[in-house]
Amino acid sequence: MNAIQSPLTPYEALCWYLEAGVDEAVGETPVNRFAPQPEAAPILPPAFAKPTVAADKPPVSPPASRPHASGPSIAAGVKTLDALREALEALEGCALKTTATQLVFADGNPDAKVMFVGEAPGADEDRIGRPFVGQAGKLLDKMLASIGLDRSNAYITNLLPWRPPGNRTPTPQEVAQLLPFLERHIELADPQILVLLGGTAAQAVLAHSEGITKLRGKWFDYATPGLVRPVSALATFHPAYLLRQPAQKREAWRDLLMLRRKLDEIGT
Ligand code: URA
Repeated sequence: MNAIQSPLTPYEALCWYLEAGVDEAVGETPVNRFAPQPEAAPILPPAFAKPTVAADKPPVSPPASRPHASGPSIAAGVKTLDALREALEALEGCALKTTATQLVFADGNPDAKVMFVGEAPGADEDRIGRPFVGQAGKLLDKMLASIGLDRSNAYITNLLPWRPPGNRTPTPQEVAQLLPFLERHIELADPQILVLLGGTAAQAVLAHSEGITKLRGKWFDYATPGLVRPVSALATFHPAYLLRQPAQKREAWRDLLMLRRKLDEIGT
């Protein structure tokens, strides 16, 4: 049987992929993920791996279930920002890690009174390893500068520390798995003000389902058991959205002025 002839040259096919948002090769060979999967073999600690002992000795039975530390308990156990970074580097069972180049933890001053939280690293952040270094980051830097801030007096991180493939929106499962780490990040950095950039970060951190247009422009009290006092939290538009919708910069400017007034109140 003849192979199906593609009407596209390889170059045209690559361009088509890029236009469709496929900008990463995650494997050498195609995988049909709709095909029925064979039941996965359990991952066992070496002591319970397939017995190599002589056949006359009865094999040791594996435990009914393998104890697995959960995200919230790992995050709750870390006491410093360095330990949090290490815990994320060592985190198991997060598929995003396998497609991302590296962990993108934070940038700026961890002692700053104001902490910004974006959605997730993009291609530039994934390559460089720092949040907000691409086009959206350049706009964020301008937004900070307009109210007298920069990366020496602001701390910056993301809801997800790994880039979702093709910059897709984080799934609810990814948010659920990684939110405890962001919550611990906020507790350890202990800012006085939290700024949530875009709907995904705002909805996850504030645990609200309204869109960013409803959530932005007002102060919330953000409290967790690990914080000594509630943090004033403000949501605003994500800089990447403002690049696509410059007319919304007017509203974002109102939010920045609210932030400036709050910074004045706390003497920053
Ligand atoms: N968008 C984000 O939300 N975070 C980044 O770090 C870069 C772009």
